[in-house]
Amino acid sequence: MPTSHGPESHSRVLIAPSILSADLLRLGDELRSIETADFIHVDVMDGVWVPHLTFGPDVVSAARRVSELPVDCHLMVVDPVPIALQATDAGARYVSFHIEACPLAHRLTQELRERGTRPAIALNPATPVSALEEIVEYVDMVVVMGVEPGFSGQAFIARTVEKVREIAELRSARDLDFLIQVDGGVSLENAGALACVGADVLVAGSFVFGARDRAKAISSLRGAAEAGR
Ligand code: DX5
Ligand code: ZN
Repeated sequence: MPTSHGPESHSRVLIAPSILSADLLRLGDELRSIETADFIHVDVMDGVWVPHLTFGPDVVSAARRVSELPVDCHLMVVDPVPIALQATDAGARYVSFHIEACPLAHRLTQELRERGTRPAIALNPATPVSALEEIVEYVDMVVVMGVEPGFSGQAFIARTVEKVREIAELRSARDLDFLIQVDGGVSLENAGALACVGADVLVAGSFVFGARDRAKAISSLRGAAEAGR
């Protein structure tokens, strides 16, 4: 069964900058610039399941060496199983994989948990909330995509807010405790509305790394989210 969230409780909205939007040649400095955040979000893309090719679990271990922040590793790959296990061994606290890409999702949640990592399940914009029904009891976090996976800087799909509300209702109806993360298109414009309907973790790529002052971007996003609660 899911572990208790410990410091990642539902009591405040957590901010997870996505290093997809960072300057990768200066990754150490970029990670130091977001030390007031709550997670480092690492987007692993294989260039097949999504058109973009990024990086793999080695970046998770590299991030762990220079930052105290826990890593939240998001897999957008054809076969998430081997990479999920590698990301776990690399020290990711949460590993999220897409329900659309993983027919053996139940087994993978168990394998991750046995290795001490918290499993998370991600849903594409076109995947209905009902896809969660048989797996939601076994995960520590549900990732609701606010854009089609593949790129940072895309426009937020407004329907995502309603989807988060439905997932929060499912969570209370089943008396569960998983975190709800929203990934893609998050900004000051939607952070309050997302927090208001139950989002606990906001991933932000271009919003944080596109700002000159990252600490200010993180605190303004957190402030906008908290104001919506
Ligand atoms: C999209 C990635 C996101 C992306 C978010 O496939 O999963 O994490 O980096 O970037 P923004 O916040 O710019 O939409
Ligand atoms: Zn992501």
